[in-house]
Amino acid sequence: MELDGKVAVVTGGTRGVGAGIARAFVRAGAEVVVCARRPPDVPVPKTEFVPLDVRDTEAVGHFFAGLPRLDVLVNNAGGAPYRPLTQAGAERHVRVVELNLLAPLTVSLAAYDHLRRAHGSIVMIGSVSGSRPSPGTAAYGAAKAGLDHLARSMAVEWAPEVRVNTLVVGMVRTELSHLHYGGPDAVASVAQTVPLGRLAEPSDVGAAAVFLASDAAAYVTGASLLVHGGGERPAFLDAATAHKEK
Ligand SMILES: NC(=O)c1ccc[n+]([C@@H]2O[C@H](COP(=O)([O-])OP(=O)(O)OC[C@H]3O[C@@H](n4cnc5c(N)ncnc54)[C@H](OP(=O)(O)O)[C@@H]3O)[C@@H](O)[C@H]2O)c1
Repeated sequence: MELDGKVAVVTGGTRGVGAGIARAFVRAGAEVVVCARRPPDVPVPKTEFVPLDVRDTEAVGHFFAGLPRLDVLVNNAGGAPYRPLTQAGAERHVRVVELNLLAPLTVSLAAYDHLRRAHGSIVMIGSVSGSRPSPGTAAYGAAKAGLDHLARSMAVEWAPEVRVNTLVVGMVRTELSHLHYGGPDAVASVAQTVPLGRLAEPSDVGAAAVFLASDAAAYVTGASLLVHGGGERPAFLDAATAHKEK
């Protein structure tokens, strides 16, 4: 199997995208530790849960110091509620940047010695929000843009021992999709905007993460892999077509 004998940590691996990644890693033969602030409601079989707030630098340091070894780190913990810039104080936006950009940096630094020894790799979970305007989640989009850039610099600084890549993820169907995209009808209409006709499943992201973490990607570092079902059809095309049809 692709990840036989490897030890992986998936931050935020207790639900949603992270649980999909954890499940895919277990299937690929890895020993998987998931961490989050709260234990999972539905644990992924054969994973170990460790409570950890990735924004707590000291706790992050202790966690990695206590691990016997590590081959793969998946910086997945992240996200943000819909919140236009002027509808919250600056400190709320700062917390979003802490979770989505500064925490992955802190966690990667704490994991570095293990990963260097193991000739391991890091997978950052980015978002298409980092490569287009992200109204309503501006701080999140900016943090994800920064994360992708951080990964590219890290890949150069930490080569040849540690590979670092980003999955640039589009819309995913999770337990919390309704908070981002609305109920089933809304999700169905949103899905029609995606060329592949559906939102991603957490398992789609998991499969791409397994690839980046495996020896099949031995020459892939500093890369950003789009997992977005073809992305967004440019809005101007529909506007122009509608105009021509009049
Ligand atoms: N869902 C999407 O459509 C989508 C699209 C593009 C990219 N992504 C990215 O995919 C990743 C996962 O998103 P998701 O939708 O699966 O989110 P989610 O369902 O909200 O899950 C987030 C996970 O991160 C953990 N977490 C949150 N804050 C944490 C903290 N401070 N310390 C440790 N763990 C923390 C959560 O557990 P606790 O709350 O118990 O800590 C949970 O396990 C994020 O990086 C997100 O930006 C998601």
